[in-house]
Amino acid sequence: MSRVFTPGVPFEPVPFPDRQTMDDREIKERSEIFYQNIRKRHSTREFSDRPVDKCVIENCLRSAGTAPSGANHQPWHFCAVSDAGIKAEIQTAAEEEERAFYGGKAAKEWLDALAPLGTDTAKPFLSVAPWLIVIFAERYGRLENGQTYKNYYVNESVGIATGFLINALHSSGLATLTHTPNPMKFLNRVCGRPDNEKPFLILVTGHPADDAVIPKKSQVKKNLNEFTSFL
Ligand SMILES: Cc1cc2nc3c(=O)[nH]c(=O)nc-3n(C[C@H](O)[C@H](O)[C@H](O)COP(=O)(O)O)c2cc1C
Repeated sequence: MSRVFTPGVPFEPVPFPDRQTMDDREIKERSEIFYQNIRKRHSTREFSDRPVDKCVIENCLRSAGTAPSGANHQPWHFCAVSDAGIKAEIQTAAEEEERAFYGGKAAKEWLDALAPLGTDTAKPFLSVAPWLIVIFAERYGRLENGQTYKNYYVNESVGIATGFLINALHSSGLATLTHTPNPMKFLNRVCGRPDNEKPFLILVTGHPADDAVIPKKSQVKKNLNEFTSFL
């Protein structure tokens, strides 16, 4: 048994902790403040080499670790890479995949969708940014004695934890890029992760370069009424 895989352990209720006690006015104000902050998040593909303290990354990862997950199994692993040699190795392997992707593997429709973002095979940011947070989804759990156990809603859980992490990094004053070289299997080897873990994405983390630009297209967001219905 592990701390997250606990067959046979019965329900043990504890009083609701950390209750938030705000009046309706404060709740409205906070929701507006949150929105005004999160709307200022922009993916960057041009990072500066300004370092970021490891303790900042640790706090943001702790935030990600509070995310909800199927059966509370927390089926994720975050590999935070700052080592220049490992970052270079990731860049070399990712650029090799990208050359194949852009050189014929990707369907025209996909390439057309990417064109307004200005992406290409060169990924210098993988070496320049101070941190690459490589996120793995644990397809099934494995105990120290080799016994395996099922995880539930793995993609949903890891996606939510990743969202927490992006928000934590942005709220701490950092910029990120969600990067998904295709395929990503090389990340198991480079990061030394076991085969029950599937690479999910790389969160490139740091500060934007002084002269960083973003694609105009990425500022086009659907309006509330285009993606919401209230019944
Ligand atoms: C699952 C996922 C995969 C992505 N993969 C890449 C990628 O491989 N390379 C890249 O440059 N951007 C990638 N992006 C970033 C998107 O292009 C970006 O989020 C989008 O253009 C909107 O811009 P914004 O993040 O600034 O709002 C990815 C985003 C997501 C959510």
